[in-house]
Amino acid sequence: MSQQSTEAALRLDPVGYGAMSLGGAYGPIDEASAQHLLAAVLDAGVSHIDTANIYGDGSSEEIIGRFLRGRDREQVFLASKTGLSMGAGVGSRTISGRRETILANIDDSLRRLGTDHLDLYYQHRVDPEVPIEDTVGAFAELVQAGKVRHIGLSEATGEELRRAHAVHPIAAVQSEWSIVSRDIEVHVVPTAVELGIAVVPYSSVSRGLLTDSFDADAAAHDMRKAFPRFHPENLPANIALAREVRSVARRLGRATEEVAIAWLLAKGRSFGATVSVIPGTRSPEHLASNLRAATLELGPDDLATLDSISARVRGARSGSPQWVSGGREGLL
Ligand SMILES: NC(=O)c1ccc[n+]([C@@H]2O[C@H](COP(=O)([O-])OP(=O)(O)OC[C@H]3O[C@@H](n4cnc5c(N)ncnc54)[C@H](OP(=O)(O)O)[C@@H]3O)[C@@H](O)[C@H]2O)c1
Repeated sequence: MSQQSTEAALRLDPVGYGAMSLGGAYGPIDEASAQHLLAAVLDAGVSHIDTANIYGDGSSEEIIGRFLRGRDREQVFLASKTGLSMGAGVGSRTISGRRETILANIDDSLRRLGTDHLDLYYQHRVDPEVPIEDTVGAFAELVQAGKVRHIGLSEATGEELRRAHAVHPIAAVQSEWSIVSRDIEVHVVPTAVELGIAVVPYSSVSRGLLTDSFDADAAAHDMRKAFPRFHPENLPANIALAREVRSVARRLGRATEEVAIAWLLAKGRSFGATVSVIPGTRSPEHLASNLRAATLELGPDDLATLDSISARVRGARSGSPQWVSGGREGLL
């Protein structure tokens, strides 16, 4: 279960739930299935649910809002985001870290979610046109107003985290982190540990690649086609790397996704970081498998094997490297 503790330090589920899939990011999901899935999340004892205004253009938030109706709001640690334009797909969005955007978007998110506060509100991407201090200053107003309990940044560099934290405590940084995407280990994670900021890795199973049922055909046609890793010139090599993760999983009698998520939990421990992984899925069976990762402890030999994989990944983790921390840190 998640809990609020001091102003900046969070205690979060080691494995939470990412609700982008409820907005149809990887194909459709009907209302009944989405409600069933959210019930399975809570039944499994998970409270950290991550969404954003842009997921399904508000529909992920609306589904969660309908789910919460009549339930105890405090059962859920609810995180959402602002800062990317709605009504556009991956690759054609714009960023805004302006005060007017933030103050307008929070009210829309609260309305869709049917709540008067968020536990965590992120700036989805750092706006290159707006000093991070100004963006965080606007978020601090939301904390003052009681609309937001904690402030987070997504894809902030180590240096941006430090500047932001000087204005108002930053509780969490959310960034891509997995066996195949490790650039945040250079600056972002160490800075987060130093400042007491929780790390929330997204795309922990690399958008399905690091699972037992990766569907390459689906990936060629859905939003993944915007990511270089999934382009035809790179995907076969990356599938071969995923097979290396699968062989570790087979040897341990576990699923590939369990190994991928357990690797992140082990990495978090090795850095001394508070980590809450948020795999996304539309399937209760996949959810259960992802959550089983918390019971898997990887040994040093398996960790070394898995650590060696990222150096051989083909294609950047983002089609717009400057939009993610590693691009601005010169690591991609
Ligand atoms: N801050 C950001 O900029 C940012 C960016 C991306 C995502 N996120 C957040 O992070 C969450 C997760 O990231 P993500 O969706 O990009 O990537 P992910 O969790 O790595 O992968 C999701 C994909 O993997 C599949 N999958 C998940 N578990 C599986 C399992 N056990 N077996 C087989 N397939 C499985 C899902 O398909 P099925 O539905 O078939 O299981 C879906 O296609 C999102 O929901 C969102 O909340 C944040």
